[in-house]
Amino acid sequence: MSSKLTLPFIFSALIFLIHLNFSSGQTVVKAAYWFPDSGFPAASINSSLFTHLFCAFADLNTTTYQVTVSSSNSAPFSSFTQTVQQKNPAVKTLLSIGGGNSNPATFAAMASQATRRKAFINSSITLARSYNFHGLDLDWEYPSSTTEMTNFGTLLTEWRTAVANESKTTGKTALLLAAAVFRSADYYSINYPFQSISNSLDWINVMAYDFYGPGWFPNNTAPPAALSASSVNGDAGITSWIKAGLAPKKIVLGLPFYGYAWRLLDANNHGIFAPANGSGIGTYGDQGYSQIKDFISQNAAQTVYNATVVTNYCYSGKTWIGYDDTQSISAKVSYAKTTKGLLGYFAWHVGADSSNWALSQAAASTWG
Ligand SMILES: *[C@@H]1O[C@H](CO)[C@@H](O)[C@H](O)[C@H]1NC(C)=O
Ligand SMILES: *[C@@H]1O[C@H](CO)[C@@H](O)[C@H](O)[C@H]1NC(C)=O
Ligand SMILES: *[C@@H]1O[C@H](CO)[C@@H](O)[C@H](O)[C@H]1NC(C)=O
Ligand SMILES: *[C@@H]1O[C@H](CO)[C@@H](O)[C@H](O)[C@H]1NC(C)=O
Ligand SMILES: *[C@@H]1O[C@H](CO)[C@@H](O)[C@H](O)[C@H]1NC(C)=O
Ligand SMILES: *[C@@H]1O[C@H](CO)[C@@H](O)[C@H](O)[C@H]1NC(C)=O
Ligand SMILES: *[C@@H]1O[C@H](CO)[C@@H](O)[C@H](O)[C@H]1NC(C)=O
Repeated sequence: MSSKLTLPFIFSALIFLIHLNFSSGQTVVKAAYWFPDSGFPAASINSSLFTHLFCAFADLNTTTYQVTVSSSNSAPFSSFTQTVQQKNPAVKTLLSIGGGNSNPATFAAMASQATRRKAFINSSITLARSYNFHGLDLDWEYPSSTTEMTNFGTLLTEWRTAVANESKTTGKTALLLAAAVFRSADYYSINYPFQSISNSLDWINVMAYDFYGPGWFPNNTAPPAALSASSVNGDAGITSWIKAGLAPKKIVLGLPFYGYAWRLLDANNHGIFAPANGSGIGTYGDQGYSQIKDFISQNAAQTVYNATVVTNYCYSGKTWIGYDDTQSISAKVSYAKTTKGLLGYFAWHVGADSSNWALSQAAASTWG
């Protein structure tokens, strides 16, 4: 038995392990998503605040299962990398596929058959290379049955194999592979395929936000993206991913650069979980950080930071907005770096912070 552990055996085992445990060399991810409908031009992104930028979203064709970019997005997407590298030549870019407004059933149908997965994989790599992205990001929201989770895992395994093969045959640096996932390691009790995620992805973007909003939680104000102390919180989700066996260095914490507005029933009862009656602004109550700062200054709103929950909120009259200001962002980034040893953070979305980069600066300087 021990006589078989010769030096050549040990060396080839080591080389095998090195190949298996592909290393993308990312030591930190300080990232944000950009999308054209934000009305904020990619050329105005202060890319020096980021290591990675996600360009959102490419689409999945419902009959060919190929990844495509709509004709209106084709110009800004194909020049995205060159555009954002003007202010930071080292910034890396990833093309995001799917997103919250795309149909999860199309992703489920794609992942369920080998020929469709191949069409997805081949077209995604071809598209990423022709548009000069450094990587790809899958935002399938969400695989929601055990079969879909298994197929998601198969897809990731095949994607990694194809990306490694493409790198080997072309001599180019392998594309980065990431995926945006639910806040916890299970989607309402359906487990994610941890092993395939661990073996195949450079990292996951954990969407640690949208816990509460007036659209689905109308009767009380609530912290939309609490880190702790609330019954739905980011720490519980991150901890579940680590407990499932995913290395902290494969986990990137999501930060919302937006919040949600509720309408208070009583203007004098304005704490967290105060009685409310649906959205305080518009239909869904969602407000970007810049809009919230404008609301505060225009209405001389009261602002509060609750460090236990890790949320900010503000109120004026019967309007109450829960959101992340610089204190919440800094506390979360410190949690990601120091408490949990994660790979980094990402924000949705960069355009909401464009008035003075306060949140992006707070995040970058807290990480150091
Ligand atoms: C962009 O970020 C850098 C790095 O933090 C900062 O020095 C610079 O002032 C920012 N630029 C603008 C226009 O805010
Ligand atoms: C999907 O691909 C088919 C075949 O190429 C094409 O006819 C169709 O227009 C595409 N669908 C969309 C929504 O682009
Ligand atoms: C995708 O498929 C085409 C046609 O079969 C092939 O030429 C190309 O090399 C493939 N690309 C990748 C990245 O596998
Ligand atoms: C490997 O990559 C080459 C070039 O990118 C492609 O033509 C070929 O089909 C790929 N093979 C597999 C098994 O994916
Ligand atoms: C909110 O309150 C209304 C009226 O009391 C009730 O019908 C509804 O079920 C509540 N919604 C939720 C999500 O609890
Ligand atoms: C923070 O919010 C929690 C949950 O609503 C509450 O129990 C606590 O009193 C708040 N802390 C402060 C300092 O307001
Ligand atoms: C809540 O809002 C709805 C719709 O605007 C209204 O019909 C209802 O009376 C309100 N309930 C309370 C308790 O204010």
